[in-house]
Amino acid sequence: MGLWSPTPPIPLGQRVTLVRNSLEDCPRDPRIPGFPIFTALEKDLKGISSILNQSFPDRAFSAEAVRKSIIGPAYAFCTFVALDVGGVVAGTASARRRYGIGEVAWVATHPDYRRRGIATALVQFTVNYLRESGFTEACAVLGPSTSESIAFWAALGFDHYRPDLK
Ligand SMILES: CC(C)(COP(=O)(O)OP(=O)(O)OC[C@H]1O[C@@H](n2cnc3c(N)ncnc32)[C@H](O)[C@@H]1OP(=O)(O)O)[C@@H](O)C(=O)NCCC(=O)NCCS
Repeated sequence: MGLWSPTPPIPLGQRVTLVRNSLEDCPRDPRIPGFPIFTALEKDLKGISSILNQSFPDRAFSAEAVRKSIIGPAYAFCTFVALDVGGVVAGTASARRRYGIGEVAWVATHPDYRRRGIATALVQFTVNYLRESGFTEACAVLGPSTSESIAFWAALGFDHYRPDLK
């Protein structure tokens, strides 16, 4: 992904929206060995809220807030979890609608499980879910943007910077 360079350049340290212009080429059956992906259930709430609180320290995610998000319909969320042995929540990602297109939101991997491809598989799974739900485009909102997060999303096809979506 090293040579990819968007036009216009993406500002760093800001809230930015990146769009995947087509969902047709997304992997149809993404998996990560050892970490099956499921739709989140009540039993996963504590694990999800713990990961989100560690991953986004400037926000507070109570189990109740996560419950509302998961069972909606306020945000039309569907949340997925990658589970380790014993049902430990290793990572999470959510699908919803934003700006009239799909959104992959609240992507986070537990610090003990990072750099094993879990977030990659979760994003691909969520994109495939959005495609099956009828969306043709999806966005990811980064806030704040960093060179690492931009590269992460670009590698997953979210490579169109849309300054008009904020
Ligand atoms: C970003 C995050 C979700 C990545 O989770 P992960 O499960 O470790 O991601 P993956 O293993 O699928 O990584 C895929 C690729 O992303 C890139 N990447 C991931 N974390 C990175 C980091 N800290 N620094 C640089 N590149 C990184 C790498 O290219 C990596 O591939 P590699 O391991 O083969 O080099 C995780 O670090 C996290 O929860 N961070 C806090 C919350 C957050 O920033 N969420 C994203 C919102 S924009």
